[in-house]
Amino acid sequence: MKFTVLTLFPELVAANLSQSILKRAIEAGVIEVEIINPRDFTKDKHKKVDDTPYGGGAGMLLAVQPFYDAFLSVDKTLNPRTFITTPSGKKYDQNFANELSRENHIILLCGHYEGFDQRIIDLIKPEEISIGDYVLTGGELPALCIIDSVTRLLDGAIGNNESAEFDSFQHGLLEHPHYTKPREYEGLKVPEVLLNGNHKEIEEWRFLKQLEITKQKRPDLFEKFVSEKINSLPKNLKKFFKNFYI
Ligand code: ADE
Repeated sequence: MKFTVLTLFPELVAANLSQSILKRAIEAGVIEVEIINPRDFTKDKHKKVDDTPYGGGAGMLLAVQPFYDAFLSVDKTLNPRTFITTPSGKKYDQNFANELSRENHIILLCGHYEGFDQRIIDLIKPEEISIGDYVLTGGELPALCIIDSVTRLLDGAIGNNESAEFDSFQHGLLEHPHYTKPREYEGLKVPEVLLNGNHKEIEEWRFLKQLEITKQKRPDLFEKFVSEKINSLPKNLKKFFKNFYI
């Protein structure tokens, strides 16, 4: 899968791709990330990419020419879907991540400063995407959130294929607790069930914890799970849920 990021701060994006799972996903060819700096396309002799708004007002706006020319330079043969990161966009969530993980190529335009000249949107017609109801200083973190959350859903991105499948939110439930060595620390013991090697019991215990935790911390998600998601569970857990809750 290919991502193209249009950003005035390429180092910000590259730094995040140079570590851990994203780094390995790139090395393994699971994803390819192309980073393009619109500043390299500006026709302004001072390399300017922004300007003051017509009609007055505070701040600077990203100018249309460098962004549009940078966008035109992107190879579109993989039929990309193009997004611009903005707090006024459609809210990003795990369902959205699943949807994007089925694309071949995603172009992400990172906004900055006070915003962008409207003609960037009118010409490119990107989908607008927000990662939450708060305002960040730029679109690089949203772009990285999208790349990260989509990548970990792709085959070969994380060691154990099961871990993405049973993630928080993947079935609409939060994660169960995890434990590693030692068996006891400051008097706190690892739950006995995790030590006995009975995979069915372990799976059921984990599922039960997911239900309890979600009900307690996110009653909204729990209600949604009960009304919509039960059918997406593996058969044994569906049966377990029915025995437990009904
Ligand atoms: N740019 C600034 N804030 C943002 C947000 N919450 N989501 C996406 N892009 C943004």
